[in-house]
Amino acid sequence: MYSKINTCVLQGLNGYIIEVETDLSRGLPVFNIVGLPDASIKESKERVRTAIKNSGFEFPLSRIIVNLAPANLKKEGSQLDLSIALGILIAMGIVEDTDYSDTAFIGELSLDGSLNPVEGALPMIISLRELNIKRCIVPYGNKNESSVVEDIEIIPIKNLNQVVDYLNGKDEIIPYKNNGILLDEDDKFDIDFSDIKGQEGLKRSLEVAAAGGHNLLIIGPPGSGKTMAAKRLPTILPVLSFDEAIEVTKIYSVSGLLESNALVKKRPFRAPHHTASSTSLIGGGRIPKPGEVSLAHNGVLFLDELPEFKREVLEVLRQPMEDGVVTISRVNATLTYPAKFMMVASMNPCPCGYYGDSLHECTCSQASIDRYLAKISNPLLDRIDIHIEVLPVDYKELRENKKLETSKEIRDRVNNARTIQLKRYEGDSIYSNSQLSPKDIKKYCKLNKEADGIMKEAFKRYRFSARTYNRILKVARTIADLDGQDIIVGKHILEAIRYRSLDKKYWG
Ligand SMILES: Nc1ncnc2c1ncn2[C@@H]1O[C@H](COP(=O)(O)OP(=O)(O)OP(=O)(O)O)[C@@H](O)[C@H]1O
Ligand SMILES: [Mg+2]
Repeated sequence: MYSKINTCVLQGLNGYIIEVETDLSRGLPVFNIVGLPDASIKESKERVRTAIKNSGFEFPLSRIIVNLAPANLKKEGSQLDLSIALGILIAMGIVEDTDYSDTAFIGELSLDGSLNPVEGALPMIISLRELNIKRCIVPYGNKNESSVVEDIEIIPIKNLNQVVDYLNGKDEIIPYKNNGILLDEDDKFDIDFSDIKGQEGLKRSLEVAAAGGHNLLIIGPPGSGKTMAAKRLPTILPVLSFDEAIEVTKIYSVSGLLESNALVKKRPFRAPHHTASSTSLIGGGRIPKPGEVSLAHNGVLFLDELPEFKREVLEVLRQPMEDGVVTISRVNATLTYPAKFMMVASMNPCPCGYYGDSLHECTCSQASIDRYLAKISNPLLDRIDIHIEVLPVDYKELRENKKLETSKEIRDRVNNARTIQLKRYEGDSIYSNSQLSPKDIKKYCKLNKEADGIMKEAFKRYRFSARTYNRILKVARTIADLDGQDIIVGKHILEAIRYRSLDKKYWG
């Protein structure tokens, strides 16, 4: 009395098929699970036993051996419950034993036999489809998220009895289809760019950053509207493309953060507090989870009051900012999660906030200013494409009642610029200018003669690093895209260079 069915485990965002082999034989009644099972899977034994009983079946008084193969892969997660329970029921002859080789079973059991939704259903199903699985039995609560994947039958199940009837042909379940997933184009927000008075330079830099997915640092005195403007960034971010949405949803799925259990449709905007630890930013932990940098994938990581973050926390950001992925080392595996985010940070120029302000006197000593600025290391600064300084809004602008540009108007321009980029990089799995590699930059960031001359002069004068040089070209590419131009001309490169002159002023 033997059975074999498939389930799935995740490592990072990759799913692997696990064969669950069950053997029932005469002998002392035992229930053993072998094949490198994690502590969480040992708990599964109790759930399986109770769920089988409470579903009205007899739990066999035999020697039960469950083997999870391949043995060298670490198995984690409660989604194995369903396959273990069904393996036993098939071996007992309660469920018909046919060929289940193109089917996978995913689900966590409750003690009463009902199926609970699991974390990571979407990445599992994407991998299973690639591994040629044709049908997937999933908990009812995971059905929306699962049906995002095409070319695989999704059978949503509420409890153990229902799946037994379904497999025995007593209950027909129509594969679940999601009728058209729409990505919202016009999101409603209760805040808007038109709330921000004055600060034209800041608004422009946010538009450029949003259009190309560039990192941005805002420096200015207290109350100048830095936080206010950054919080309005989501209102001008470009629409999430379907491929990007899938990537984001996979991450939220393994993190257990999918709200409606369906596709994430908006670009993430994560704003961790400055007391955040390196682990919460980067990811990891005993049961490894993606950190803020991955939760901000294809969206924004907003670090308000940048120098308040612990220095070591800021330093760990450097690697994902460069590579677009994070690597987490564990005892017996290394996991990688995607982390292509746009970092937006704000800070005051000094501890009191008024350094360089013509209206207020700065009360800080030079030493304390230096210490404050030194929290942001040069390699980190170097990775920020756009630096922008803001001054306090003046009274006249604040009182003025003229109609200001709305988020919708800015978002339309941003979307146009992003569409140009998506088209240009089609098939390269690049979604925005910020993701261009040095080789791509050579190919796509063509300067006219005037722009080339300006860049040459600036390179000599400011002694840019090679990284800074490349970043300026990427920003200039975005500015040209906003302008609808194929070749980067003088004014584009001038604006891009201007965004890199501030670091010299404060850190020079
Ligand atoms: N440009 C502006 N237009 C309209 N209101 C503004 C503007 N700048 C600031 N304010 C008002 O001042 C408040 C404080 O601004 P905000 O918190 O953005 O300042 P900040 O630059 O982040 O300051 P801090 O350095 O202290 O964090 C805002 O909530 C808003 O009401
Ligand atoms: Mg603020």
